Amino acid sequence: MTACNPSAGDAESARAEYPGELKYIQYQHSLEAQYLPAIRALISKDLSEPYSIYVYRYFLCQWGHLCFMALHPTDSSLIGVVVCKLEMHSSHSPPTLRGYIAMLAVSAPYRGYGVATALVKMAIDAMAQRGADEIVLETEETNIPAMRLYERLGFLRSKKLHRYYLNGNSAYRLVLLLKSTDVDAATDLALDEDDVSPPLSR
Ligand SMILES: CC(C)(COP(=O)(O)OP(=O)(O)OC[C@H]1O[C@@H](n2cnc3c(N)ncnc32)[C@H](O)[C@@H]1OP(=O)(O)O)[C@@H](O)C(=O)NCCC(=O)NCCS
Repeated sequence: MTACNPSAGDAESARAEYPGELKYIQYQHSLEAQYLPAIRALISKDLSEPYSIYVYRYFLCQWGHLCFMALHPTDSSLIGVVVCKLEMHSSHSPPTLRGYIAMLAVSAPYRGYGVATALVKMAIDAMAQRGADEIVLETEETNIPAMRLYERLGFLRSKKLHRYYLNGNSAYRLVLLLKSTDVDAATDLALDEDDVSPPLSR
């Protein structure tokens, strides 16, 4: 959903020494005061279009159990976050339970250590455990690190969304099929114009 300039953060920060075992935790409402400002700051850093607090609360209040955070082992500061939702889509026959990765970001100095991979795997597992048929997201076509990450985890390109973001950039819709072995199901999504969400993950 998010439109970002993926290279901006990398240029700003030197790579940090990997701090050892990060803490990976599930978001819960009691953590809002402690972590929502940091989540917003981390996500909006690479966004070309900022989201209001209501966008974050829309996801976190309903699907906090599908949001995971990577925390620094000593000071518990936020290093990475993934935000998702899981909903039934009845426009498909039969209806599909579709997971959606809405936001993903890792603090620039900690990129390239597998933090995003670990977060996305946790989100996939959580959605699969709840019966998701598929997981989708959009990512900016120029966002090579994100494209590589998702394709390494098995996501397929299902549709190109031309000029999807406010900055005029196009996106790919990616899909991970959790139940069907029919790869044509991925391209079926491409035909389903009504299912294209407004920009959230990039
Ligand atoms: C895209 C993004 C989330 C990736 O985060 P990340 O933590 O660097 O991702 P990972 O470390 O899991 O994977 C990146 C690379 O590190 C490598 N890696 C994985 N585990 C590693 C480890 N333990 N040690 C070193 N490198 C590792 C991966 O192989 C991968 O390399 P490759 O894809 O170039 O082959 C991050 O660049 C980011 O926050 N970008 C801005 C926001 C954004 O674009 N979000 C995506 C929206 S869809």
